Amino acid sequence: MTERMTERMTEGVAEGVSERMTGRTTGTAARRGTALITGGSRGIGAAAAVALAEDGWDVGVNYRTRSDEADQVVAACEKLGRRAVAVQADVAEADDIERLFDAVTAELGQIGAVINNAGVVSPSGRVADYDVARLEQVFRINTIGAFLVAGAAVRRMSTERGGQGGVIVNVSSRGAVLGSAGEYVDYASSKAAVDTLTVGLANEVAKEGIRVLGIRPGLIETDIHEEGRLERIGTTPPLGRPGKVEEVAALIAFLASDRASYMTGSMVDVAGGR
Ligand SMILES: NC(=O)c1ccc[n+]([C@@H]2O[C@H](COP(=O)([O-])OP(=O)(O)OC[C@H]3O[C@@H](n4cnc5c(N)ncnc54)[C@H](OP(=O)(O)O)[C@@H]3O)[C@@H](O)[C@H]2O)c1
Repeated sequence: MTERMTERMTEGVAEGVSERMTGRTTGTAARRGTALITGGSRGIGAAAAVALAEDGWDVGVNYRTRSDEADQVVAACEKLGRRAVAVQADVAEADDIERLFDAVTAELGQIGAVINNAGVVSPSGRVADYDVARLEQVFRINTIGAFLVAGAAVRRMSTERGGQGGVIVNVSSRGAVLGSAGEYVDYASSKAAVDTLTVGLANEVAKEGIRVLGIRPGLIETDIHEEGRLERIGTTPPLGRPGKVEEVAALIAFLASDRASYMTGSMVDVAGGR
């Protein structure tokens, strides 16, 4: 988590952002259960972890390499009166995912919400120049990882398997629809598969007490972008500015909550109209 984001989060809490958003005082929201978020150490995932904590969830914060930043997110959740734990795991590895779910369950109790957020982009380039290593990397993390995380969630939450139901929120990208020509069509395609996963899985598990939803962020201010990209294309209309992580996090917290109880199988854009 960047220093700027820590400041923004702390400022947000101090200014009573949570009261304005939820009508509740910080730290007094009723406990909703345990949420697990992949890629929760930075960017959208870090902001979503804090938004979920504000909304009453104890939070399992997954990261791949940045343990210090994950620890800061855990501290921000704890400051809101929630329990939280940071767990290292690579979502591209099935064994890691099992260990992640088991560790969060052991520490925080049965998982009721899973935010399938971890993701990477490829370097800018054209399709004609992609090699196998590049394609394997982006599909392995963004697509296979999302499938493995969703599968692990269903095995634990399905009422047909002894679970208590729950919700899965998949973080796709507006690029899945726009195609990301000249930059990373492979990334956009890896996210289009996440859109299809969302619809297909939602139908598969609706009768097992699990809602499955997806979001498609547009250009959001995080470290995922190459130098200068946000300035170059972040100002395109309609809204003409990049989005903030908190604007995506608020949507994730809403979809994970009972306030979205009649929603499943939907993709929701949070992309400034792009
Ligand atoms: N920012 C945007 O404009 C935008 C737009 C559309 C969609 N998205 C999607 O939103 C999600 C979050 O993006 P972001 O912008 O917040 O990215 P970010 O700032 O680069 O953060 C990425 C997060 O994912 C984690 N991660 C990466 N690979 C992982 C792996 N193999 N296993 C476990 N964790 C892994 C990172 O962990 P470490 O900190 O340990 O490295 C970090 O917490 C991604 O799926 C991305 O595709 C972002």
